[in-house]
Amino acid sequence: MSSEISIEALLTRRKKGYSLEAPFYTSEEIFKLDMEIIFGRHWLHVGVEPDVPEPGDVMVVDIGKTSVIVMRDDDMELRAYHNVCRHRGARIILKDKTSVGNLVCSYHQWTYGQDGELLFAEHMGNDFDRKCRNLKKVHIRSVGGLIFICLAEEAPDDIDRMAAAIEPYILPHDLRNCKVAKTVDLIEKGNWKLTMENNRECYHCVGNHPELTIPLFEYGFGFAPDGTNPKRMEHAAKYEALVQSCHAGWEAAGFPSREVERLADVTGFRTERLPLDGAGEAHTKDTRSASRKLLGSIGERKLGALSFWTQPNSWNHFMSDHIVTFSVLPLGPDRNLLRTRWLVHKDAVEGVDYDLNRLTEVWEATNQQDADLVEISHKGTLSPAYEPGPYSPYTEPLVEKFTEWYVGRMSEHLLGKQAAMGVAAE
Ligand code: FES
Ligand SMILES: [Fe+2]
Repeated sequence: MSSEISIEALLTRRKKGYSLEAPFYTSEEIFKLDMEIIFGRHWLHVGVEPDVPEPGDVMVVDIGKTSVIVMRDDDMELRAYHNVCRHRGARIILKDKTSVGNLVCSYHQWTYGQDGELLFAEHMGNDFDRKCRNLKKVHIRSVGGLIFICLAEEAPDDIDRMAAAIEPYILPHDLRNCKVAKTVDLIEKGNWKLTMENNRECYHCVGNHPELTIPLFEYGFGFAPDGTNPKRMEHAAKYEALVQSCHAGWEAAGFPSREVERLADVTGFRTERLPLDGAGEAHTKDTRSASRKLLGSIGERKLGALSFWTQPNSWNHFMSDHIVTFSVLPLGPDRNLLRTRWLVHKDAVEGVDYDLNRLTEVWEATNQQDADLVEISHKGTLSPAYEPGPYSPYTEPLVEKFTEWYVGRMSEHLLGKQAAMGVAAE
């Protein structure tokens, strides 16, 4: 941090309803705490089960300096280990994705089983106790096919409550029987919190997302009833009526749709199935399905888009024919990785059932537009003229809920820990 003021003081004086003070976006010291407290102790969305569909499939996820092996064992269970050899610490798996029998370190060939047990270590003598050299485990949990990991010793247990609430919404889309049609990594030149704030509102959509606003109604994210012209009021009322009738119809057909909002939980989340414009089928330029094969046992194309947002690092859209998942992984105070995956039914054939460009074009364009917005936001926070600005109470309440969650989680760990040590906060 450039000034003498402590992070504890910055957290304590954070003004509700306003963006954060600059050091939260720019300081190396706060970034390190973000990695330790937010990304080190909460459940993070890092992938989908179809990333590791077969026994022995492995995916490596890097979170700051931590590298994690996510794998599927021969019993089809998901497992996660620190990607650090228990001999002299070398990285074991070097590729982003691969398939293995055992996990073999290339340095001196120490070999670990799929359960993390050290099976083979040559030249270590008779007294060497292999048992205390097993791979270190990382918590892993699949929620309806979305993979979450937690790096903490003890993971927050409210993920069970999230799973119980969300699985009835997402299971009909049968993510586990999808395949990843495409993954795109985009480096955004801004702090990860700016990416999350940008995601939690659609105030910027009309001005910035010509493709996304073909299927997406901006009203789904709130609007100000005053100061708008009568036509806008009329549209908003129509949208509200559409939500009510669509939700009633979808729920009657067995697709839970109404909003569930628990963004303040430790494992915070929100979901809602949103009607789409036009044909109402998908996030495509013509609002129709991108894949001919519908997911799971869904027989209805016009199912809108079920959105599932999680704290701190994901948002996901489930449609009748495809799913798009997004996870944010920080790389530095001013850089983060946005990883987007598009999934279709595992039997859908590219070029026959779906066209890859049609499937991905709306979100590829939208992601780039958002990355540009994050970059200009970040540049702004570096200026001495920057000061926290007010969020719109109509179109940015979810931004406030993200920021409140962040401040709350950081405060609990930092102020709680400090109090326990008997040190007064500045
Ligand atoms: S560091 Fe892995 S076997 Fe030596
Ligand atoms: Fe956006």
